[in-house]
Amino acid sequence: MEHKLWGGRFTESTNPSLEKLNRSIDLDKRMFEEDIEGSKAYAKALNGIGLLTSTEVQAIHNGLEIVAKEWREGLFEIHQGDEDIHTANERRLKELIGSPATKLHVGRSRNDQVVTDMKLWLKSNLKRLDLHLRELISVIVSRASHEIEVMMPGYTHLQRAQPIRWSHYLLSHAWNLKNDSDRLEEILKHIDIMPLGSGALAGNPFNIDRVQLANSLNFEEITQNSMQAVSDRDFIAEFLFWASMLGIHLSRLAEDLIIYSSKEFEFITVDDSYSTGSSLMPQKRNPDSLELIRSIGGSLFGQCCSFMMVLKSLPSTYNKDLQSDKEAVFITFDKLTSILEVTSGTVKTLKVNQGRCKSALSFEMLATDVAYYLVRKGVPFRDAHCLAGQVVAEAEKKGVNICDLTLEELKEISSHFGVDIGKVWNYENSIEQYQAVGGTAKSSVLSQIRQLEAWFCKR
Ligand code: ARG
Repeated sequence: MEHKLWGGRFTESTNPSLEKLNRSIDLDKRMFEEDIEGSKAYAKALNGIGLLTSTEVQAIHNGLEIVAKEWREGLFEIHQGDEDIHTANERRLKELIGSPATKLHVGRSRNDQVVTDMKLWLKSNLKRLDLHLRELISVIVSRASHEIEVMMPGYTHLQRAQPIRWSHYLLSHAWNLKNDSDRLEEILKHIDIMPLGSGALAGNPFNIDRVQLANSLNFEEITQNSMQAVSDRDFIAEFLFWASMLGIHLSRLAEDLIIYSSKEFEFITVDDSYSTGSSLMPQKRNPDSLELIRSIGGSLFGQCCSFMMVLKSLPSTYNKDLQSDKEAVFITFDKLTSILEVTSGTVKTLKVNQGRCKSALSFEMLATDVAYYLVRKGVPFRDAHCLAGQVVAEAEKKGVNICDLTLEELKEISSHFGVDIGKVWNYENSIEQYQAVGGTAKSSVLSQIRQLEAWFCKR
């Protein structure tokens, strides 16, 4: 019977099928650095309360260094009985240094250890994710500033609505992504609260100095209730929701670009390096990159949803159900990293077809401007809207563009029409009306770019 760290009261070995189900080492070995970092700090704290001598702490440190090196170099041998990263590291440490290793776990439980490891892991890795996110924002902002002259139709309900700048469209995504980045900072504050020293559930019986422990692990705060601390996975749920929201933002961008890259639109061309072909139809160039981003956007929410269901109705404190947080977090982290990279690359390398964007603008998109023209002549908006509708209907009846109606024909609809209506038939003039903050006029788009650039410098 293989020795288990918790095996004292057991007379029979674990059934192999349960052993397989129970093992999380294949996933949580990713946290070996954090587990070792936590153990080093904990050993120091035990020294502070006289439960380990300085010589023992030194031996533990040296031993843990070797364990870390073995992991880093791919030399760590996982044994059959290594249930998770915590048991594996402790087992190996004991093999390396003998008796001091057996004193390390006093007052600690895997319950406070695992949640501490997760928080440490997220603290360093979420920053990496944020770098990918910021790279994407900067790709978008840079395109927006170079392509500010490109005009295109803006859509609602996927129907042509009003003329806009391509840059304004691009920046609409950048703003969502900036909000994602800001939101991540909030989540990081919740992660930055150290649970170590909570034991299995009741706390630490040796009055360990948790504040000093938190300082040595670079945590901003410490948890205030041990039972809450070992069961808290709110920060995991927050991360998974955050990732889902970001995934949804990326899927929206992807979906737009898929539509814009179709032959019917042809506003953009996805670069060869982010497209794939068909094994049957030689002419095909498929935007697989964008389709994968779109689908992964959905599956990230699947992870969030499934973990929320794990949390639902769990009784207080630690339950093994919580072990599934690793799978959700790591899958989410990896998928998000790869779609962020691919989104940046796809957006950076795509070609915008300025001519196609412009030729997709059509005069009926200026119907709102006809109404605003009348408003500027003193007509109340509801009446103006109705009159502009009549202009559209009249043009439709005659089979012409609204700009081709003669002044006489327009005057029959409203006496307020004058020769200056000619100025309305201009897409750029239309766009340039929207100068109020947040609009599509050039000055407003430039101000958005400045703000986003300032945001980059601030953080
Ligand atoms: N592998 C476990 C997890 O990830 C560690 C905690 C186990 N605690 C326990 N009492 N069985 O959740």
